[in-house]
Amino acid sequence: MSPITELLAPDETGHARAAEILRDGGLVAFPTETVYGLGGDARNDRAVAGIFEAKGRPRFNPLIVHVNSAETARTYVEWPEHAARLAKAFWPGPLTLVLPLRAGSGLSPLVTAELATLAIRVPAHPVARDLLKAFGGPVAAPSANPSGRISPTCARHVAEGLSGRIEAIMDGGACGVGVESTILGFRDGPDGTTQAVVLRPGGIASEEIEAVLGAPVLRGEADGKISAPGQLASHYAPGAGVRLNADDRREGELLLGFGPVECDLNLSETGDLREAAANLFHHLHALDARGATVIAVSPIPQTGLGAAINDRLSRAAAPRD
Ligand code: TXA
Ligand code: MG
Repeated sequence: MSPITELLAPDETGHARAAEILRDGGLVAFPTETVYGLGGDARNDRAVAGIFEAKGRPRFNPLIVHVNSAETARTYVEWPEHAARLAKAFWPGPLTLVLPLRAGSGLSPLVTAELATLAIRVPAHPVARDLLKAFGGPVAAPSANPSGRISPTCARHVAEGLSGRIEAIMDGGACGVGVESTILGFRDGPDGTTQAVVLRPGGIASEEIEAVLGAPVLRGEADGKISAPGQLASHYAPGAGVRLNADDRREGELLLGFGPVECDLNLSETGDLREAAANLFHHLHALDARGATVIAVSPIPQTGLGAAINDRLSRAAAPRD
């Protein structure tokens, strides 16, 4: 099956059409505040299988379910006190919580790759929110890129990667945050406490989460027992090679700068990490399109959103299969 991909405007007609496609088990790419998502009805096995197929994504890598409110989220997952606090502080917004899945959730088992937990979030983008409202059900949505490639932060990126493989793309302009949501899991700590574990750094900085929880959050990689299965080393890869912590531009390289440096494209001339996150995938797509063989990247501090930026860059630089 190779559908002709419709381009939808984020107006009433567009949302009605998108909701109709989702109800029929079809796939619609839509903007969120982080990156574009490839949405399908999370209760429909055929739709969810279609997401894996369209992306070429391994079936063992579970999906994030998007819902319109914390009240809806708690009908799908167990809802401990720490979840309530985090949802109150950060939803709607770029935080995904991994929590035990409730029995009888009605979700397709393909969504969770048959894990006992579900990754769930309430997106903040007004177009995503309108779409969830028009559809009225849970939407499973990974980033709307072919598996292993750079995530899309505008409708054109989605079309370049997935045109002809999905039913529709809703164009809502560029994404504001620019890197995916922070994925947070939980595990039992000493003395009956719960420890939060960042499984993927993203749009909400660990420091912000620590301020809300009043406790340090751990990094998933430090503990092999709990991780986001999709965190494969080579991921977010542009066509070009990537060289990190570059202080200069070598022969044949294009330089992706940060701060006051002479370069081909700058993530943020003023060294603002939020601006850099918003520009990251855009600039990688753009340098790739210029035919770079190697993209060199200036050093980025590891604080705040820098953790998410460096995570994506180190995956982009990792050896490819
Ligand atoms: O910002 C985002 O999170 C975007 C937008 C579209 O919402 N979505 C996104 O989805 O980045 P995706 O599929 O590209 O990344 C989802 C990640 C994967 O690494 C997956 O392994 C992890 O979430 N994940 C999903 N369910 C999980 C679970 N139950 N336990 C641990 N990790 C899980
Ligand atoms: Mg992704």
